[in-house]
Amino acid sequence: MFVNNGSGGYNNKESNVFVWLVKLAPRKKVGMLLLSFASFVAMLWILFIARGYTLPPGNPCETFTLPPPPADKKRTGPRPCPVCYLPVAGAIALMPKAPSYSPVLHNLTYIHDESLIKNEFGGSDFGGYPSLKQRYDSYDIKESMSVNCGFVRGDRPGRKSGFDINDSDLFHMDQCRGIVVASAIFGAYDLINQPTNISETSKRNVCFFMFIDDETEKFMRKSSYLDASMKVGVWRIVVIYNLPYTDPRRNGKVPKLLSHRLFPNARYSIWMDGKLKLVVDPYQILERFLWRENASFAISRHYKRFDVFQEAEANKVAAKYDNASIDFQIDFYKKEGLTPYSTAKLPIRSDVPEGCVVIREHVPISNLFACLWFNEVDRFTSRDQISFSTVRDKIRSKTNWTVNMFWDCERRNFVLQGYHRDVLEHWAPPPLRPGTPVVVTSQSSILINTPPKNSTEVNVSIPKNTPSKKRRSNKNSSSKGHRKAAAGTRSRNKL
Ligand SMILES: *[C@@H]1O[C@H](CO)[C@@H](O)[C@H](O)[C@H]1NC(C)=O
Ligand SMILES: *[C@@H]1O[C@H](CO)[C@@H](O)[C@H](O)[C@H]1NC(C)=O
Ligand SMILES: *[C@@H]1O[C@H](CO)[C@@H](O)[C@H](O)[C@H]1NC(C)=O
Ligand SMILES: *[C@@H]1O[C@H](CO)[C@@H](O)[C@H](O)[C@H]1NC(C)=O
Ligand SMILES: *[C@@H]1O[C@H](CO)[C@@H](O)[C@H](O)[C@H]1NC(C)=O
Ligand SMILES: *[C@@H]1O[C@H](CO)[C@@H](O)[C@H](O)[C@H]1NC(C)=O
Ligand SMILES: *[C@@H]1O[C@H](CO)[C@@H](O)[C@H](O)[C@H]1NC(C)=O
Ligand SMILES: *[C@@H]1O[C@H](CO)[C@@H](O)[C@H](O)[C@H]1NC(C)=O
Ligand SMILES: *[C@@H]1O[C@H](CO)[C@@H](O)[C@H](O)[C@H]1NC(C)=O
Repeated sequence: MFVNNGSGGYNNKESNVFVWLVKLAPRKKVGMLLLSFASFVAMLWILFIARGYTLPPGNPCETFTLPPPPADKKRTGPRPCPVCYLPVAGAIALMPKAPSYSPVLHNLTYIHDESLIKNEFGGSDFGGYPSLKQRYDSYDIKESMSVNCGFVRGDRPGRKSGFDINDSDLFHMDQCRGIVVASAIFGAYDLINQPTNISETSKRNVCFFMFIDDETEKFMRKSSYLDASMKVGVWRIVVIYNLPYTDPRRNGKVPKLLSHRLFPNARYSIWMDGKLKLVVDPYQILERFLWRENASFAISRHYKRFDVFQEAEANKVAAKYDNASIDFQIDFYKKEGLTPYSTAKLPIRSDVPEGCVVIREHVPISNLFACLWFNEVDRFTSRDQISFSTVRDKIRSKTNWTVNMFWDCERRNFVLQGYHRDVLEHWAPPPLRPGTPVVVTSQSSILINTPPKNSTEVNVSIPKNTPSKKRRSNKNSSSKGHRKAAAGTRSRNKL
């Protein structure tokens, strides 16, 4: 079953080993050969089926490799690149039956604390005020741990905790036992993007939740975009009351990083920023970036910055946050041992994520990572790309767990970048022709309101070139299998 050279030029290590074995075995000892063949198959089964994930032999993704990045130095802007997905049915068939292994940590609980005694620095009424010692202890990975993870007050996450949610919505959220796709629009800052290319299975089984604040709700109701059904396309719209922070971007970190608390029964979640439009089926995304990589947390790398110090400087220059707070955070991490990125850190390929998409399996160790990352965001600046590598590396130093950091161009394959509403409204003529990355549903073009000032990130991330027909069809190359053969590319994303 592993020696299938029939389709797509299947050619990897396992089949080579088999050929090698057959050549080596003495011809006369056919019995021995059969025996060794049997044990070989058993060994393979243990290695590649029983223990972990493997793609079905002969599928075109075995031999898929990314084309080399364009050599032209001038064209280094963000762009999409082809990704080899399995067909939806194939991806669904490969959904792991059991949760991934969670190294060291098996029992993670969350601190509930109504007292809220402030201490030396940082924290909030929503995330609590963990002391520096508590912070230190939270990185000492043990089998059973209890950590701050937002929602420190109240009956449960979403009820009297801040970031409050109506009981009927909480009930629906609790019913999500499989895959959640979540997004949020706070401050009427983006337009709702409808996912496309979603399979019927996903429409039935995947929960799509869009969190909005009451400002966005009023705005949507005024433009009759939202009715009593609280559904817009595939999205179930959930209004959040008592947002914990004044900064909408900081509020956005709650559903982004704490999806395991909002959806306590879900197995997988995909977070996407409100400005993004999903154009690939969630099963295909999970298969490509989690299951195929044996990963329980995946995020894209920043398209050009790999170094936290450079990222911090860029944030300062772009006035993303006040300089003093960024400096304070960077100095703190430096004293803890943060060093500039260099190839000496390989196999780590980047210290800076582009965090507008987060792909997770909810197992204790990845949940811990998300909690600790949130705690850094709560204690320091809300620029989560500054704290990411510190949290990752502290966990990595204690376990073999890590994050799959895939290419930014791969992310751009499955989410299209819309523009924030303020940019849309200042453009003339409105850039709403088919085939541009500005993909908003037809009704949404009637949405007009005063956007919040100076909170845009569009400069960083607008794709320079419109996705072409060619690129779009690449996305579906799983059914064609015309990619160049190259072995050993499957794990290139790791770290
Ligand atoms: C995932 O695990 C399986 C089995 O342990 C292994 O064969 C495969 O190479 C791993 N994949 C990656 C990308 O590490
Ligand atoms: C890929 O394209 C073919 C037709 O070219 C279509 O039948 C199939 O459903 C597509 N697959 C996916 C996963 O979109
Ligand atoms: C997990 O930890 C909590 C708090 O320490 C404890 O109450 C609970 O019994 C533990 N659960 C398991 C299954 O060990
Ligand atoms: C949700 O809760 C808020 C505040 O508790 C209330 O004003 C609103 O009417 C509720 N909405 C629904 C649909 O139940
Ligand atoms: C996926 O969605 C895009 C629009 O977002 C569309 O142009 C494309 O044809 C779709 N692909 C498939 C396979 O349906
Ligand atoms: C913050 O720092 C950046 C770069 O170091 C600098 O360009 C900018 O002027 C500073 N902003 C303020 C308000 O001092
Ligand atoms: C936002 O704008 C105000 C005034 O318009 C300015 O004082 C403030 O520094 C700006 N903040 C950011 C993050 O750009
Ligand atoms: C991590 O180590 C455990 C055993 O301690 C092993 O079962 C697991 O496969 C390892 N995971 C990775 C990604 O290497
Ligand atoms: C950022 O955007 C503003 C307006 O949206 C524009 O004036 C400025 O030139 C842009 N900067 C870069 C570096 O693209």
